[in-house]
Amino acid sequence: MKSIVIERPDILTLDERPIPEPGPGEVRVKVRLAGICGSDSHIFRGHNPFARYPRVIGHEFLGVIDATGPGVDPERCGERVVVDPVISCGECYPCRQQRPNVCTSLAVLGVHRDGGFSEYAVVPAANAWVLPEHISDAYGVMTEPFTIAANVTGQVAPQPDDIALIYGAGPMGLTTLQVLKGVYQVSQVIVADFIDERLAMARACGADWVINNQETPLNTLLAERETRPTLIIDAACHPAILAEAAALASPAGRIVIMGFSSRPSEIAQQAITGKELTIYSSRLNARKFPVVIDWLTRGLIDPGKLVTHQFDYQQVTRAIELFETDQKQCCKVLLSFP
Ligand code: NAI
Ligand code: MN
Ligand code: ZN
Repeated sequence: MKSIVIERPDILTLDERPIPEPGPGEVRVKVRLAGICGSDSHIFRGHNPFARYPRVIGHEFLGVIDATGPGVDPERCGERVVVDPVISCGECYPCRQQRPNVCTSLAVLGVHRDGGFSEYAVVPAANAWVLPEHISDAYGVMTEPFTIAANVTGQVAPQPDDIALIYGAGPMGLTTLQVLKGVYQVSQVIVADFIDERLAMARACGADWVINNQETPLNTLLAERETRPTLIIDAACHPAILAEAAALASPAGRIVIMGFSSRPSEIAQQAITGKELTIYSSRLNARKFPVVIDWLTRGLIDPGKLVTHQFDYQQVTRAIELFETDQKQCCKVLLSFP
């Protein structure tokens, strides 16, 4: 089989590897479709501190189970599945708190272990979630990015009368936007980005107000309309945003951060305590695959609005380069496997 391997930073090869056999509790998935995420590009470029090389990248993928390991019902062969990349121990403190996404021995497919940019991938059977027939491959493969939004929104219980502000209209901001509008019916969602083309996508995904905050600072525009966001999600993840978000937020507001910058965010205690703000963080997903599959089944979210490109997997280098350099035109770029 062919696998997309990052041998070391900046070196991507299409490796010929033996087809893997599923071990106890595992299934083998014949991959059909995969999505490129920022973290794939970060591993490719050597910017992911968690990555070990060589690595088969890819944590957003869909395929059909074609072999089962010992202890797995052989009837599962033939199931069309999407794979949760989060592998956890089930026993540590975070796992007991139903937060396997921060398991003390967390392993993420495509980061710590070989992932889905490969003709075949072996994964824990419990991580392979069946997709209902009427959901297309292109929609199903978007399950993982929407689980990030499910995790973010699951932290804060959004209400219809929230005034939400999302920083960033990349894939993460747009999935979160769709969930706030489609699932939680939040009446006012504001999206800020520096790129007008991305703001146009945010409009198409249901944003009530889009703001190019490179042209005009948010505080000016929000003050003009006397708008105080009650829920702020930072899906742009610059360390300077937290302080600005705290300044813009309504008293009793909530802020969710999801960035991994190692640079400090400078913020005064009084900016938080004075308004009794709550600051949440969100990483990966805590068993949100069934939640998102349910949303897809009920038509509450529309992944089709985010898919802008599809390439044959052999063109992966071109696909990643386009994804990295053309933020105006690219949102989700898919790779198809034979
Ligand atoms: P992206 O790079 O495609 O989108 C970020 C967007 O933010 C861009 O459109 C950019 O123009 C905009 N932006 C940058 N600075 C801004 C500012 N000051 N104000 C408003 N907009 C600004 O990235 P993607 O894929 O949407 O991911 C967003 C972030 O989320 C990344 O930093 C990524 O590392 C993080 N992430 C976190 C996850 C988690 O589980 N915690 C999972 C996936 C991504
Ligand atoms: Mn992803
Ligand atoms: Zn654990």
